[in-house]
Amino acid sequence: MVQAEGARIKDIAGDGVMVVFGVPVAQEDAPLRACRAALAILENLEGEWAEIEQKFGFRGDVRIGINAGPAVFGHLQAGGAAGLAVLGDTVNLASRVQGLAAPGTVLLSEHAARLVEGLVEVEFVGDHPIKGRSATEKVYRLKAVRSDASRFDASRTHGLTTFVGRERELGGLEKALREIGGGVRAFDIAGEPGIGKSRLLHEFRERADKYRALVLTGGCTSDGRETAFRAFIDVARGLLRIARGDNRATIENKVDEGLRALSLRTDENCGLLLNLLGHEPSNSALAGLDGVLIGLRTREVLRRIIHARARLAPLVLAIEDTHWIDSASEQLLASVIATETSVPLLLLLTRRPIYSPPWLGKARVVEIALDPLSDRETSRIAQARLGVERLPDALYVLIAEKAEGNALFAEEIVAFLMERRIVSFRGNVFEFDAEAVGVALPQSVQSILAARVDQLPQEARRLLQTAAVIGRRFDPHVVLALTDGGDRLDAYFADLEAQDFIHRDEASGVYVFKHILLRDAIYDGLLSAQRVALHRKVAEELERRSSNSLLERAESLAQHFAAAEDAPKAFRYLVMAARKSLNVYAIPEAESGFRKALTILESGLASVAPREGASIVVGLLETMMLKSDYREAGRIAETYMPVVKAAGETPELVVAYYYQTLSLVQRYELRAGLELMTDALAVAEKIGDPRALAFAQAGLLHCRTRLGLDTREEAERRRKDVMESCLSLNDNFLRNSAYFFVVWDCLYRGLLKEARALAIQQIASGEATGDPRAISFANWILGWINVVADSPGEAIAYADECLRLAVAPLDRLQGENIKTVAAILSGRGREALPRIEALNLEFERLGTLYNILDGPRGVALIETGRISEGVRVIKQSIAAREAAGDRTAAGFFRLLLAEIYIRILNGGQRPPLGVILRNLPTLVAARLRGARRASALIEATASHPQFDAEGVAFARIDFNRGQLWRLRRRPAKARACFERACRAAEAQGLDALRRRSEEALALLA
Ligand SMILES: Nc1ncnc2c1ncn2[C@@H]1O[C@H](COP(=O)(O)OP(=O)(O)O)[C@@H](O)[C@H]1O
Ligand SMILES: [Mg+2]
Repeated sequence: MVQAEGARIKDIAGDGVMVVFGVPVAQEDAPLRACRAALAILENLEGEWAEIEQKFGFRGDVRIGINAGPAVFGHLQAGGAAGLAVLGDTVNLASRVQGLAAPGTVLLSEHAARLVEGLVEVEFVGDHPIKGRSATEKVYRLKAVRSDASRFDASRTHGLTTFVGRERELGGLEKALREIGGGVRAFDIAGEPGIGKSRLLHEFRERADKYRALVLTGGCTSDGRETAFRAFIDVARGLLRIARGDNRATIENKVDEGLRALSLRTDENCGLLLNLLGHEPSNSALAGLDGVLIGLRTREVLRRIIHARARLAPLVLAIEDTHWIDSASEQLLASVIATETSVPLLLLLTRRPIYSPPWLGKARVVEIALDPLSDRETSRIAQARLGVERLPDALYVLIAEKAEGNALFAEEIVAFLMERRIVSFRGNVFEFDAEAVGVALPQSVQSILAARVDQLPQEARRLLQTAAVIGRRFDPHVVLALTDGGDRLDAYFADLEAQDFIHRDEASGVYVFKHILLRDAIYDGLLSAQRVALHRKVAEELERRSSNSLLERAESLAQHFAAAEDAPKAFRYLVMAARKSLNVYAIPEAESGFRKALTILESGLASVAPREGASIVVGLLETMMLKSDYREAGRIAETYMPVVKAAGETPELVVAYYYQTLSLVQRYELRAGLELMTDALAVAEKIGDPRALAFAQAGLLHCRTRLGLDTREEAERRRKDVMESCLSLNDNFLRNSAYFFVVWDCLYRGLLKEARALAIQQIASGEATGDPRAISFANWILGWINVVADSPGEAIAYADECLRLAVAPLDRLQGENIKTVAAILSGRGREALPRIEALNLEFERLGTLYNILDGPRGVALIETGRISEGVRVIKQSIAAREAAGDRTAAGFFRLLLAEIYIRILNGGQRPPLGVILRNLPTLVAARLRGARRASALIEATASHPQFDAEGVAFARIDFNRGQLWRLRRRPAKARACFERACRAAEAQGLDALRRRSEEALALLA
């Protein structure tokens, strides 16, 4: 009973029991707790006396006395019995008051009665002389505790002392909650460790009750950064009422019911949430979805359950320590904040100032910087801890100067001073040894924490060290299993709690270090050998305990085994964690896991099956593809291909070749890519693996397209094979790849109409499978087609749609690319130039040289009057693409240059004099030799067999030929060309070119 009220039984001597509340940590509701406990004892004994009387023929008496006030406490270590001693006048008076009580009653001292005034019902029983005192003491009989006496319950959970200051911040949060209405509001609360971010949220939570809001807490932890969705897992559990220790079946039920209640129940959503919580989804809920789609939809379902829950009643999400947020949670959080919605949702996010989150400065986000507390506020924390009304001046100054407004620092200074007896009580008199402080007090909060821990008895210290290795939150059972000390450990837990080192989280039964700095101080204080040994014990114990949920705990097991220097186990869990991350599209986490695993593999410290090694390399390559980092993918492929090859001719080898080829193609090493894919196809055919075959055919088609190796018939045959192989596997990634390469082949031949039809088909397919990548890509194609067709307005509309749905960085860049080129087409070259520079830098970085905007840059330069420079840039780009074997791209740039010469020859709008002077040599050369040059460029383009006679390239070739004939005054020849151009333009749906050809024909007539 008394322990239920957070008290401790101190002495059981003969027939007397002393119970202390709020020692050594002040609890502001200690007197109330004592009253409750006292009445509960009486009430309980009432029932039992009857029984005892019946059995043994007598009735006992209970008399209880309660006093409150300062007491001296400390650890006594006499005779090996470590424990807490409480001494002083307060204790003596309590005993006197108890002596005055009649049987079956509880008496309160005057001081105690004052502290619970209004919360209890009392009766004055008189002024009593007290032995050893001159004044009398007023004594009250406790009749009842009022049922609404809960005003202190707020601080029940922790040994929290009086909350000081922060009125403005708390007021702002409370106001937001009071006025919570349409839409999302987010508070970004930043401050140094110990300044009071968590406490502010705690105080807010207490006040949130009266607004009928549901408050859910999620948290980021320093060791949770590698766990995808870490910050939201607790939120999801909270929303679905999943408790710690629920088994799989229970979880499945709760997920099912929870989704049903929010009208979001689908098999897929159930599967996504189970998967998120670390359980294999049942049946085929996620069949056909690759990691990207699972990841995107997990983000989506989380966003939707949050909104749906908020629609039922105001919802507050408190997410702590976002400086440790994982990438998936960060994206999700950013999207929750960005979503336009009318549901009442309040987000409270805390962080250290070093992190600047993506939602900073966004609409609906209010920033709160937690400043240091004032000197007065800081000293009030100290007063509360000491249980005194006023601090001696010297102590006030000391704490104000030292703590610098940091609440944690202030608390720790006080704890330190009390433990070292630098402050103490003599009777009721508070004493402070100012001189001792100067010598003893460590400089930083970390060193105070370390010093306090050093003072602990060895067993308690060991216990904390083991706990610190586990993390800020730890299961006491794990610690107990790993620490010898038997029964006494329970007492140590209680002591450590009483000394405010750890708190128990009532809801989950785990313990939490008071502050992460405490955990870190202990952990950092371990010698490295100790640390390794402890990690090993912890890792093994956690592994043993989570045999049913290894996947769920893979990240943490990986960390412990790595720190335990157990390479084989670390390897195993790293790979598990990395795959898990890749499977929910958590890219940085996947990358980090695969890389660490590969480092272990290379070290030779773990024996790894060759196939396993190969698949890790493939996993890392896939991760690079999702990052669009072709440069790094190339490096990885070069380094680790031997690992893949060591497994022999496997599907992994084919897929690795495929990714390496994509990287080579992006870096414009087309011939090397062709060689690889030719090998890959041979392997795939030999091993007869359909997936490998699909990869090989698709990659090979693309290399051949880019090098212009196939006739139209040959290419059509290959395209058909690729479509069939890839679409038969019900794999979104392969389906997208098939469309991608087939469309590309059409574009390279100039067959825009076919490409457009395929893009439209892909949009439908993307809509059917719910794959934004497919739709985004198709819109990109449609955008390009419109660029080629000279319809910049439409091109931009498609590019915007592409951007809206873009998933990989390159998808987004492609959208930007189109918009930039469309800007040039619309005569906004000046505006396009800086954008081109920025995009090119990004393409360089990612190693996608193909995308570098060189030709368009030349045009933009020309448009802004830098004609010579522009012409030079275009010439260089022709040479570079030709050298790489990309005759098609070279051909399109040749046409571009020819068109520029023809424009100069045609005169058209006369450029300003300055422009003419600056570009004189080029302009003169163009006038003199432009026609010959243009003609040579056009005929070189026409000689490229890949350009289809009915395609866009020939439409432009013929149109330009027509213009040149007209300049040479050969109308009949010109007419024939314009007529052909007209037909091809018609066939490819190029309205602008058709119109221009028709106008040219009309002029000839
Ligand atoms: N305004 C305050 N009044 C009283 N105590 C505070 C206040 N702010 C913080 N504390 C105490 O200081 C300690 C550190 O605060 P905490 O909120 O955990 O810091 P943070 O989350 O910023 O690292 C806690 O024990 C907390 O109860
Ligand atoms: Mg905190």
